[in-house]
Amino acid sequence: MRSLFNFSPRDIAIDLGTANTVVYVRGTGIVASEPSVVAMETINGVQKVRAVGDDAKLMMGKTPDNLRTIRPLRNGVIADLEVAEEMIKHFIRKAHGGPSRFSRGPEVVICIPSGATNVERRAIRDAVSNAGADKVSLIEEPMAAAIGAGLPVTEPIGSMVVDIGGGTTEVGVISLQGLAFCRSSRIGGDRMDEAISAYVRRNYNLLIGEGTAERVKLEIGIARPPSEGEGLVSHVRGRDVARGVPSEITLTQAQVADALAEPVNRIVEVVRVALEHTQPEIAADVIDQGITMTGGGSLLREISSVLADETGLPVRVAEDPMSCVALGAGRTLEDRVYRGALTAA
Ligand SMILES: Nc1ncnc2c1ncn2[C@@H]1O[C@H](COP(=O)(O)OP(=O)(O)OP(=O)(O)O)[C@@H](O)[C@H]1O
Ligand SMILES: [Mg+2]
Repeated sequence: MRSLFNFSPRDIAIDLGTANTVVYVRGTGIVASEPSVVAMETINGVQKVRAVGDDAKLMMGKTPDNLRTIRPLRNGVIADLEVAEEMIKHFIRKAHGGPSRFSRGPEVVICIPSGATNVERRAIRDAVSNAGADKVSLIEEPMAAAIGAGLPVTEPIGSMVVDIGGGTTEVGVISLQGLAFCRSSRIGGDRMDEAISAYVRRNYNLLIGEGTAERVKLEIGIARPPSEGEGLVSHVRGRDVARGVPSEITLTQAQVADALAEPVNRIVEVVRVALEHTQPEIAADVIDQGITMTGGGSLLREISSVLADETGLPVRVAEDPMSCVALGAGRTLEDRVYRGALTAA
């Protein structure tokens, strides 16, 4: 007889991203997708979590002295272990809808960038265990992205996935559930934001916040200059460096394309290197199948066409590109076929 106490806990998959954390629950699907931001409050010398995710992001750049907003991940790996653990705990609790009713903790599948060192892998594993997981499995981000994008990863067909996240761009060539080649570069959405800030500072002597730069990118960001006479504009407020007063300027889309040229070129370069290192048989498949893009950075206007022009290959952006990694990691919990995609290390 099935006992009431025999429910298995809700195993979960987490895409612990530099910019966003996406949580998948076995049997349910994606239950949360929030910025990877934690607001920490200090009261009488003791640090306490004040907010996580959406609520914490709203506080960024606007906190009083006793409150700090922290992004515990940088470049795809954990930069602040303690805060990262608090964030993981928050998301596991959220996935369970309150304190766990189960005798054992869940299995947690967590994504790691393919370029993560052994020390970084261990740090992530420990943080997830400390957050209450009984079993921790790791999956490399490009593999998860490929599964989530619906690529034929279990077959002897080579496919290439390019995931542009907040912190890293990962290129993976996958065949038979293995990464035949991968390359990770610490260039992603954050670098694009920094490039916009640097441009505005250089050309207008205006200091703008991280959030403002990202907003400009989302509003009018584009991977190459728009056609003559076309293009959107964005109004940007910041602090004039020389005069020290608030000031506003208007940026055109051509200017933003100019600012973004460097990070975009570096992304193209990573893909080019990956193509050069792909075994000939697999490369032949990639020519047929083309390149699939995932991650928030794949939503930058024109980036897929720039990549197509530069490589001469067909490029498509996956459906729901910001969820692919979590969906792919989640599939390993749902379907044994995909267990082979988890990493041993
Ligand atoms: N429409 C858009 N145009 C350009 N960039 C976008 C767009 N939408 C989201 N982004 C950017 O995508 C990035 C977040 O993507 P994603 O959630 O895939 O990253 P992540 O998984 O958290 O990071 P990583 O994989 O590097 O750890 C942010 O830098 C965000 O500004
Ligand atoms: Mg990611």
